[in-house]
Amino acid sequence: MGLLKKLFGGEPRLTPELERRIRESFDRDSADEEHFPSTIDPRIQHVQLILRYLGDPGGRRVLDVGCGKGRFARVLKERYPDARVTAMDLSPAMLGYAPSALLRVAGTMTALPFADGAFDGAYATESLEHAVEIDKAVAEICRVVKPGGRIVVIDKNSEHWGRFKTPEWERWFRPKELERLLAKHCREVASQPISYWEDVAPDGLFVAWTAVR
Ligand SMILES: C[S@@+](CC[C@H](N)C(=O)[O-])C[C@H]1O[C@@H](n2cnc3c(N)ncnc32)[C@H](O)[C@@H]1O
Repeated sequence: MGLLKKLFGGEPRLTPELERRIRESFDRDSADEEHFPSTIDPRIQHVQLILRYLGDPGGRRVLDVGCGKGRFARVLKERYPDARVTAMDLSPAMLGYAPSALLRVAGTMTALPFADGAFDGAYATESLEHAVEIDKAVAEICRVVKPGGRIVVIDKNSEHWGRFKTPEWERWFRPKELERLLAKHCREVASQPISYWEDVAPDGLFVAWTAVR
């Protein structure tokens, strides 16, 4: 991939035109509750890992990057009403489904509208894969988390690419590839395969990356 990038002109760009197409696509998808649900069973391991790794967010500021309808942030806020949970997404229509108890912000994760160190922790679930400018998005997520704060990214493993139909901008990641990007800004970077249910072994599709800013 590194060599191909060099030969064929580098990282793809999130041009304003592509950003508009992605936003409009997710605005449309927001009506599809079956594939883009507004709630999640809190027992699902993706939720459990985020809760465990971020620790008690009571009274602290947490960012959900590419929150969609805010299904993860909803659980966080219900469990910890005094957590200050910000849900950000490119699609205003998706954000429209997120609970009003969250601070809802529209924007792109490639240029987050927050100050350096504005959050105690952040997570991104199945959203980095749509960022196109992946290095930039990872740098931004890390920038807005304060030193010592924790970061979780849950996304798909490129070794399983082809398993679903995907839009042309989507990218999945090799575990080491995203570890390397996170390690440019963070310490204690690690990754692990993750499944939905505790009693089902991971099949390798989903990976959870963790890092300390
Ligand atoms: C598959 S959905 C996942 C939503 C949510 N994280 C979840 O797990 O339910 C991907 C989300 O990423 C958002 N997204 C895509 N590109 C983005 C960008 N550049 N910045 C912020 N959000 C983005 C989409 O609008 C969409 O809501």
